[in-house]
Amino acid sequence: ERAVIGVTGLGVMGRNLARNFARHGYPVAVHNRTEAKTKALIEQFGAEGEFLPAETPEAFVASLARPRKIVIMVKAGASTDAVIEEFAPLLEPGDILVDGGNAHFADTRRREKALRERGVHFVGTGISGGEQGALEGPSIMPGGSREAYEHLGPILEDIAAKVDGVPCCAYVGPDGAGHFVKMVHNGIEYADMQLIAEAYDTLRQGAGMSPAQIAEVFRVWNTGRLESYLIEITTVVLSHRDAATGKPFVDVVLDQAEQKGTGRWTVQTALDLGVPVSGIAEAVFARSLSGHAGMREEARVLPGPSGDGLESSFADDVEQALYASKVVAYAQGFNEIQAGSAEYGWDIDLGAMATIWRGGCIIRARFLDRIRAAYEADPGVPTLLADASFADELSRAQRAWRDVTVAAARRGVPAPGFSSSLAYYDALRAERLPAALIQGLRDYFGAHTYRRVDRDGVYHTWWELPGQPETRVDV
Ligand code: 6PG
Repeated sequence: ERAVIGVTGLGVMGRNLARNFARHGYPVAVHNRTEAKTKALIEQFGAEGEFLPAETPEAFVASLARPRKIVIMVKAGASTDAVIEEFAPLLEPGDILVDGGNAHFADTRRREKALRERGVHFVGTGISGGEQGALEGPSIMPGGSREAYEHLGPILEDIAAKVDGVPCCAYVGPDGAGHFVKMVHNGIEYADMQLIAEAYDTLRQGAGMSPAQIAEVFRVWNTGRLESYLIEITTVVLSHRDAATGKPFVDVVLDQAEQKGTGRWTVQTALDLGVPVSGIAEAVFARSLSGHAGMREEARVLPGPSGDGLESSFADDVEQALYASKVVAYAQGFNEIQAGSAEYGWDIDLGAMATIWRGGCIIRARFLDRIRAAYEADPGVPTLLADASFADELSRAQRAWRDVTVAAARRGVPAPGFSSSLAYYDALRAERLPAALIQGLRDYFGAHTYRRVDRDGVYHTWWELPGQPETRVDV
């Protein structure tokens, strides 16, 4: 019973996480359904720390100190349930099962409840940062009971990435809260990448720049307020040349973006919660559209505009459009976390989420420290757009944001992320929205009623009887 923690499922993520524990001095039990992976881990990396390999679940569980802490690193879905069913009967009350996969938060809620009834803690944990993050310090988003976090938290905080000495790991909230936050993280990741792609496309098609020139633009942007992991790797990918053809890599890759589902879940959940996450939705839809090869093939005959090219000095404007749209996407994502937290009673600290995303994860960025500061200044700010410093930046960016959106439309470059984010900005700041007209139409065709700006109550107008006063229907 020497192992402080165990990892079952030794794919790349599981293996690297186990190595991270071992490198931090924790004796770590390791187990995999097929033994070859366990053996390979010991052979290749056994010298990095104290690994306790186990052939069977029974031996694995027996090697763990109590309360046992077991991290499950298998493909989200049915495999997770299968592993839980295998291990749960071997555990004792107080033991802790951690799911480090990209599970849907509703599944995590179900699993947590079932295991709680058996006295076992279930900790649904978001882990971001890919293979390298798992090994060198990921961003970790654990949900579940506070009691479980007391045992687990210090170890996770130890192996997490650090920014200014602060770990990129914090208790998120009960049951599905951790996986919910990870889901929204991924939704924001989709939006971030879509906006980067639009900036690239606008510069490529609009301003006629080459991938290598655009790589240089991104390199410069990465020294400013856009500094982030995704902008950094955009430079690398755009600079890359295909070995076989010598062409830019981006020109030989099939332009159909794939997805495993977390971005889609973010939007589906937002629809249920009634939170407008239009920037994230556009990113998910843009990936779907790219995959509709048949539709795209048939539609290729549609004419585009015949317009002039853009100046390459336009890159500065594109930076503003990208930045402003990014602020909108993050504001929408944080609103979704706020709404999920209220719906499920999770009491999530939004500033803490920005804090643990500053390092380790895919969306890590200098910018997240600003979001942390915004929530520190006003934990109840209803939208990040209203935070004084973001509001100021958006107002300064808006001329360029509008110009780029118009220029993209004029040149026939699709920029749904830029334009929907701008529409969101304009809708939120509007004095009056045409929603009033929609209410009128609803009342006309279905007596769906409306409220007035000048009086309390719910009303219906007798549209077929002109002159007849409206009726108050709520008394
Ligand atoms: C992370 C990533 C990761 C996710 C990939 C792929 O935080 O490390 O979000 O968890 O699996 O980004 O997602 P898609 O295949 O859906 O693009």
